[in-house]
Amino acid sequence: MSFASQKSGSKASMGYMIMVAALAALSGLLFGYDTGVISGALLLIKKQFALSAKAQEYIVTSVLFGAVFGTAISGWLGEKFGRKNIIIAAAFIFAIGGLFSAFSPDANSLIIGRIFLGIAVGVAACIAPLYISEASPDKMRGSMVFLFQLAITIGILAANLVDLTFVNVTEGWRWMIGLSVVPALILWLGMIGMPESPRWLVSKNRLDEAKAILVRLRNTAEVQQELSEIQASFQEQQNQKISWLELFAPRLRMPLILGLGLGVFQQFTGINTVIYYAPTILQSAGFNSDSWSILSSVGVTLVNVLATVVSVLLVDRCGRRPLLLVGLVGMTVSMGLMGFVFQSAGHLTEIMKIAAVGSLMLYVASFAISLGPLFYLIVSEIYPLSIRAKAVSAMNVVQWSGNVIVSFTFLSLAQSIGFSASFWLFGLVSAVAWLFFFWQLPETKGRSLEEIESSWLKKPNQGAEQPLAVTAGVR
Ligand code: BGC
Repeated sequence: MSFASQKSGSKASMGYMIMVAALAALSGLLFGYDTGVISGALLLIKKQFALSAKAQEYIVTSVLFGAVFGTAISGWLGEKFGRKNIIIAAAFIFAIGGLFSAFSPDANSLIIGRIFLGIAVGVAACIAPLYISEASPDKMRGSMVFLFQLAITIGILAANLVDLTFVNVTEGWRWMIGLSVVPALILWLGMIGMPESPRWLVSKNRLDEAKAILVRLRNTAEVQQELSEIQASFQEQQNQKISWLELFAPRLRMPLILGLGLGVFQQFTGINTVIYYAPTILQSAGFNSDSWSILSSVGVTLVNVLATVVSVLLVDRCGRRPLLLVGLVGMTVSMGLMGFVFQSAGHLTEIMKIAAVGSLMLYVASFAISLGPLFYLIVSEIYPLSIRAKAVSAMNVVQWSGNVIVSFTFLSLAQSIGFSASFWLFGLVSAVAWLFFFWQLPETKGRSLEEIESSWLKKPNQGAEQPLAVTAGVR
């Protein structure tokens, strides 16, 4: 093959891979949209159904509870039925749940519809990044999985804009919620034409299909080496009888602790206090006009999208460690600043108002290049194939439970210790997270999933890959 044709071949395979990843990432868009749309929709729903505060809380949190359940079952489903089929099933639930919610005659049916949407969100959050990670070539795996987070942020932004558009329309909430059916149908129909994860096929001994898909994904017939590596690594796990419980065995302690740390810190550093409550936070600081605080919160979600675009471009160049550590510094500093600004909440000068919005933006941008996308990427990289789906699902249960706890308690926390101290608390957690990842996070950039798993599984005298030990530098 000439150099020129090799180059165009690799471009073609890149194009196809980007299409596969972008389509699966649509499930992230639905995740962001369905979790983000409710803040605006609620304003209209509560008037139409004359809802009590409790009923409103149920409507908001039903998606989160559905998501915890969805993540809990998705590992088993993804392992048994395949990654692609489960994304198709999630798309179907997204579509049905969206329609059901949009046409709800009362609050109870809306809650049921949103529980279904939550189940789809939870399943998608586990299986889509895993699917993308297993299909991607090593060198672009980071940016491909980051597309999932990019889609989440676009979904949140779209939800904000749709809310603004329909806020003055009679029964506009039905449009706000119902519009999600469009991307759900695209995901559903689109995924039917997408390939199954070659790694899952190997785990089911469907080698010919796995090979054909690798040929298509890499746009070359020379995939035998990659296929053999996946097969050998999976065979080794079979020989060693790696079962679900093995996740708690000493040799998998590092990926276990790392996954738990990512799940806990992704939520307990406070991202969803900003994503779900930005207008409330700004109003409490003294932004008296509704439109100012809603517009500022649209600005914050726009920054979320833009910073995620930057992280997609950086992750396979800079690596995971630098992004995470730099992002956490930004999160710590911005939470510190917010705590400081909010000490004068209620009588902020113009400069301090700008500082308040600026530090919210810095915080969100720092999360968007670090803990946001890296949670999904790293948990889809570090577990052995034979238990990968279940392990990813367990870490997502931790992450979603963290989301429920923080979103549920934030307003009461702020009421009891004040916004200022609450932000300092999140800043402190971010600083602890920095230390944790400084000691625990290995660099997985450019390594194949098989290299990563064999670094945990092989004993030192078995000629293992370089273990993914952690040092301060780039590894
Ligand atoms: C988190 C969500 C969060 C979103 C914000 C995701 O990575 O899992 O909880 O709302 O990022 O962009």
